[in-house]
Amino acid sequence: MTQASVSLYAARRAHLAAQLGEGGVAIIPTAPEHARNRDSDFPYRHDSYFYYLTGFTEPNAWLVIDATGRSTVFCQPKDLEREIWDGYRLGPDAAVDALGVNTAQSVADLDTLLPKLLENQHTVWYPFATHKGLETRVDGWLNAVRARVRFGVACPAMQRDVCGPLDEMRLIKDAHEQAIMRRASAISAQAHIRAMQTSARMLRAGQDVREYHLDAELLHEFRMHGSQFPAYTSIVAAGANACVLHYRADAAPVRSGELVLIDAGCELDSYASDITRTFPANGIFSGPQRDLYNLVLASQDAAVAATRAGARFTDPHEATVQVLAQGLLDLGLLSKAKHGNAQDVIEKRAYFPFYMHRTSHWLGMDVHDCGSYVERVAANEASTRKDPLSGETIVNRPSRILRPGMVLTIEPGLYVRPADDVPEAFWNIGIRIEDDAIVTEGGCELITRGVPVVADEIEALMRG
Ligand code: GLY
Ligand code: MN
Ligand code: MN
Repeated sequence: MTQASVSLYAARRAHLAAQLGEGGVAIIPTAPEHARNRDSDFPYRHDSYFYYLTGFTEPNAWLVIDATGRSTVFCQPKDLEREIWDGYRLGPDAAVDALGVNTAQSVADLDTLLPKLLENQHTVWYPFATHKGLETRVDGWLNAVRARVRFGVACPAMQRDVCGPLDEMRLIKDAHEQAIMRRASAISAQAHIRAMQTSARMLRAGQDVREYHLDAELLHEFRMHGSQFPAYTSIVAAGANACVLHYRADAAPVRSGELVLIDAGCELDSYASDITRTFPANGIFSGPQRDLYNLVLASQDAAVAATRAGARFTDPHEATVQVLAQGLLDLGLLSKAKHGNAQDVIEKRAYFPFYMHRTSHWLGMDVHDCGSYVERVAANEASTRKDPLSGETIVNRPSRILRPGMVLTIEPGLYVRPADDVPEAFWNIGIRIEDDAIVTEGGCELITRGVPVVADEIEALMRG
């Protein structure tokens, strides 16, 4: 790690320490390793909170910070035999300088030393409900402190969720994070281009194209540019499979005349990207495909225009729905006689069979990143509304006000299943267009437009 990175993580730890309150101690473990099956583990991915505060990627590590800003890392001890099998370990001696912490200890001493760090403190902070068994371990350490109260030691009386302050910090991406996210997005954009071009080229050559062929192109491009993993399981959905929201890349044939929906993004240096493109398998949109595609794109344009500092998180979604509702009526997917005008469609949520997900989520180290989607307000400031479909009463807290440095996806879609009252020309078409946006003062920066979205531009690059 460079000196600049060491300082960056130290500044984040100091920022957290300043929020712990007098006598506060925060305990943040990294992620556990997970067995896949006998003697084989899932690829290891560190915990995002832990990484955010340390930049450290080894398993079996813990960070402890107190309100005075003192930080201790517990990490795997040096062990030549284990290092022959599993690879290099930093070890506690080197960790102090490498990570810029005050103290580093062997993780083997965690249960002995942690109660000492909690003695005479007031509040213990740790991530709630994210690490299996963590509450029990904290109870154990607190019990070890309680066992010494008759010797005059005080035990923390409060437990608080450290995700609260950390989520707020992670919600605003600093310049370092934004730079990585731009690079991750650029790699993912190239991967989408590669998959589109491969689809058209293989079909032109008369080859049997399968979803996994396109998935292989994505993976190739991710890894060729140093991405460690896909940020989530790639969706490569040919034809009707695009109407299954959580479809995975499988073995279905990619047929000329059908659309392909790819939702895939790489993770680079712990940061996710998240792009969806929908394109004609052979490189040429049919009339109905283009009509529906242009409607989704127009709804995305409206959402992008609604994304700026000071707007609400829900504004892009509302802008999307406005355009989709009108377009569904205009294209005859919803009957004007039955559903009335766009406002009626929105109020009764009649668009829901075609568009059943939200338009955005936060993006960062996690693809569905942390951070509250509502403003913190007093309970009496929340309004209520009746859900038009379920009749349930929903408490509405005001949606989050966007601020510069927040990163969100903008991903409208339409998914048309066969139905008697839907024109057959649109059956089995599923379209989503997803870009990643950094909120700026005056608008937003779309960091994923290395791959085009305009239908003519997609056709042009697929001819190439
Ligand atoms: N790829 C996950 C999502 O778009 O939310
Ligand atoms: Mn997404
Ligand atoms: Mn996605």
